[in-house]
Amino acid sequence: MTRVLRVDPRQPDPAALAEGGAVLRAGGLVAFPTETVYGLGADATNGEAVGRVFTAKDRPADNPLIVHVASPGDVPGLGRRGRLLVEAFWPGPLSLVLPRWPGIAAEVGCGLPTVAVRMPDHPVALGLIARAGVPVAAPSANRSGRVSPTAAGHVLADLRGRVDLVLDGGPTRLGLESTVLDLTSDPPRVLRPGGVTLEELQQLVPGVVAGAPLGEPLPSPGTRYRHYAPRARVILVAAGGGELAAAMRELAGEHRRGGARVGALVRGSWEPGQLGVDIVHSLGESLAEVAAGLYAGLRALDAGGADVILAEAAFPGEGLGRAIGDRLRRAAGTHSGNQSPPGIQ
Ligand code: TXA
Ligand code: MG
Repeated sequence: MTRVLRVDPRQPDPAALAEGGAVLRAGGLVAFPTETVYGLGADATNGEAVGRVFTAKDRPADNPLIVHVASPGDVPGLGRRGRLLVEAFWPGPLSLVLPRWPGIAAEVGCGLPTVAVRMPDHPVALGLIARAGVPVAAPSANRSGRVSPTAAGHVLADLRGRVDLVLDGGPTRLGLESTVLDLTSDPPRVLRPGGVTLEELQQLVPGVVAGAPLGEPLPSPGTRYRHYAPRARVILVAAGGGELAAAMRELAGEHRRGGARVGALVRGSWEPGQLGVDIVHSLGESLAEVAAGLYAGLRALDAGGADVILAEAAFPGEGLGRAIGDRLRRAAGTHSGNQSPPGIQ
């Protein structure tokens, strides 16, 4: 049985947080909002509880979890660079890969000597972790391989009956998962682009690089899998500006003639007729709006019965555009596993 408790995202009811904390301490699973996406939490010091996360998500046993803390003081071994980064970006969407410290269950890191850790910027997440009194291991609260949840309804669609409690704090603000930065490698390496950009990291820690050296797989196990994918087939449409509509109409025509129901995921507002598709999901114009609405848009087009999703994909290869492009390529199954090319090809 999955219980759902509504909470005010700014001032969550202490009783709801206490209930969540008690479920975690008892070894149960609690889904909760963060500023990025919803997480599926378990007591990170309890190997059995952590094992339940893998079962609930059908997660491959070699894809480690991110540990969430309520204060930087809960993380030993940050080191000089870690302390600089934490001061600048925590609480916030930056996960740091550090040497695993005693007390964190080995199951969290799937046998790796390292652990990824972050302090989320969300009153519900922080209150829950504080009430639990332990670090909380939490991957995104979706079935493995599916699009990350940015609302409690997405969590329930994937995990109802598989988690004990869902704290519903409304839609998440950023909409894409945290940046993962490996501080155990030299030079430090961004394993997954996210809300804290490469450019921001490089200002504080010169020499930070993105992705794996050419030809080598990324050392972040999760990046090997086809991820963030809706049921529909996603096709990226790199045409920008005035050419977008014509490019979409041509592609949509081909697929509709083959009998497919075609959806479009686009910036700004368009009518289906203008793009030659069956349904349109409109994102805002700014990159922040696109990031916040991307996953909900993929899920909405799935729910609308789209067999094919044509996704507008002309985003800059820097800043937040890098993270958006990364997730779109993963949704389309065209990610190479290596450093993302600038912009979308
Ligand atoms: O924003 C987020 O990071 C969300 C919220 C809930 O905090 N969490 C999230 O977790 O996206 P998940 O499990 O979906 O993604 C974790 C990523 C995976 O790509 C995983 O392989 C990588 O972090 N990771 C975790 N531990 C690692 C480690 N020790 N070394 C390298 N990569 C690691
Ligand atoms: Mg995930």
